[in-house]
Amino acid sequence: MAELDAGFVAVFNVAGEFFAIDDVCTHDGGGLAGGGIEDHQVICPRHGARFCLRTGAALTPPAYEPVRCYETRVVGGVVEVLDEP
Ligand code: FES
Repeated sequence: MAELDAGFVAVFNVAGEFFAIDDVCTHDGGGLAGGGIEDHQVICPRHGARFCLRTGAALTPPAYEPVRCYETRVVGGVVEVLDEP
């Protein structure tokens, strides 16, 4: 997890590729950092909504709105999350 000015961001390592999304489920505000990962999707631990880690799209109910995604990069072995639109 990382903290940006806008709040907490969940960072996931999927086969060496890093993805960062807001750590707030758009259904009811659950944290996504502890969610399971399947096929580049994170599963909200609270009610099971799935979000695409590549786009932030809400893929299954009960969430319908996307989560924000952030660009990531690895510099000197450190994962950086870019807080830019
Ligand atoms: S809070 Fe995430 S699915 Fe309900």
